Amino acid sequence: MAKRSLWGSKAGFLLAAIGSAVGLGNIWRFGYMAYENGGGAFLVPYAVALVLAGIPLMIVEYVLGHREKASPPLAFARIDRRWETIGWWMPVVAFFGITLFYAAVIGWCMNYFVFSFTQAWGADTGAFFIQEFLQRSEGPFQLGGIRWPILAGTVLTWVISWAICYREINHGIEKASMIFMPLLVVLTLILVGWSLRLEGAWEAIKTHYLSADWVKINPLTLAGSKVWVAAFGQIFFTLSLGFGIMITYASYLPKKTDIVGNALITSVLNCLYSFITGFAVFGTIGFMALSKGVPFDEAITAGAGLAFVVYPEAINQLPSGQTIFGLLFFLMLIMAGLSSAISLVEAFCCSLIDKFSFSRKKTVSVVCLIGCLGSVIFTTRAGAHILDIVDHFVNNYGLVTGGIVECLLVGWVLKASMARKHVDQAGGVKLHKVWEVLIKFITPAILIVVIGFALCSEFSENYEGFSTRALLFVGVGWLLAALVISLLLMRFPWKESKLARDHEPEEDHLLV
Ligand code: ALA
Repeated sequence: MAKRSLWGSKAGFLLAAIGSAVGLGNIWRFGYMAYENGGGAFLVPYAVALVLAGIPLMIVEYVLGHREKASPPLAFARIDRRWETIGWWMPVVAFFGITLFYAAVIGWCMNYFVFSFTQAWGADTGAFFIQEFLQRSEGPFQLGGIRWPILAGTVLTWVISWAICYREINHGIEKASMIFMPLLVVLTLILVGWSLRLEGAWEAIKTHYLSADWVKINPLTLAGSKVWVAAFGQIFFTLSLGFGIMITYASYLPKKTDIVGNALITSVLNCLYSFITGFAVFGTIGFMALSKGVPFDEAITAGAGLAFVVYPEAINQLPSGQTIFGLLFFLMLIMAGLSSAISLVEAFCCSLIDKFSFSRKKTVSVVCLIGCLGSVIFTTRAGAHILDIVDHFVNNYGLVTGGIVECLLVGWVLKASMARKHVDQAGGVKLHKVWEVLIKFITPAILIVVIGFALCSEFSENYEGFSTRALLFVGVGWLLAALVISLLLMRFPWKESKLARDHEPEEDHLLV
């Protein structure tokens, strides 16, 4: 059996894992999720979701990948062959349900990076985004042709992802993360500092971001339960949980590794990054509301367009430095997006390589080609509608289901005590027994309640006013297609030698 590649250094692994977690979800998605779900009030369920689901599951994924030295399908199959389908479900749902639109959104960012040179979005940034840039059609079934500039950005994203993932993990993703992440931190600090100095920024942050309206998060009301569902969905998305990525990344760690320490660092730094960029988002909206003389709550209606409507509008209002602000902001989004896109590609490719023993170069090439073709649907005039529906279903059901199953697998089939023993043997921070209780009972129970809440709101009103046909065909249909692909991939037989846990006589060292 070919020797599995390893990360070159602990910093390389952590930067790649944090790079996967920190992405468009932290800036683009977190911003509009928080804005739509009560501002500061959103932070409470978000923090609860981090502690009760995010961190315990991050440890679960690291344990799975590290113990089995395998991508999700192989790791699941090694523990119990019958669970393999779910091992496929995670990278498949993430690849077809997220990577395809993720590449298109990075494509939007690339276009906006170019627009920043001349502020091509003009005075009415909302109309520009919807009518001129997306040329958004009436609904998800009116495809209305391809938007070529978006397609160009999307193809470029796939080419970059291909060029990085084509190389072994320690040469491709690790090296790329070492460039992307420091650059991202510098860009973020500049932009947050800049945003905080805008007129009206602090006032908006204090009133709308750092204070919570508790009524808005009462889970016993329909509106409140939706905020909780959104917070849990956001935690999965932002920490790249349920995607199979963290399992895959942990499979390249050497035997001696601080699993708990790495899981804590990845989760906490990622959420801290979102919290900090939230200052920039709310500060900028505050500045924009003040400049336009409108109340904060009515400043935007753009939802997923927040980054592409509010920021350009705020840039228009700046007294100076408009071009540089725009360039820095969209470059920051591109960096964050690319470091996550490569992890999405890697999780799916690694799963295929583990099962079929294909070469990395061929697998990555074919997967990126298929991904690029699949992304085309998101570059059509209906792309934004389809994205909205797919994102909603994948996050609220697809990823959360994966999370529940991994808890049950590690908690009950592998046995939580065995997993904890593995963590202790690997070295580093010891895992508290509370984790066993969490992953066996509390985390899956909460996630089941979250799915229940999500279903209740699904039946009480159609998501974002889309037709039932659109939600069933696009949203549920997408999940069913992912399930069919997972079942098909699972049916291929394994080489028995793969299923035997592999004890490579290697690397007893700690990564430094
Ligand atoms: N975790 C990645 C993000 O937040 C997917 O964008």
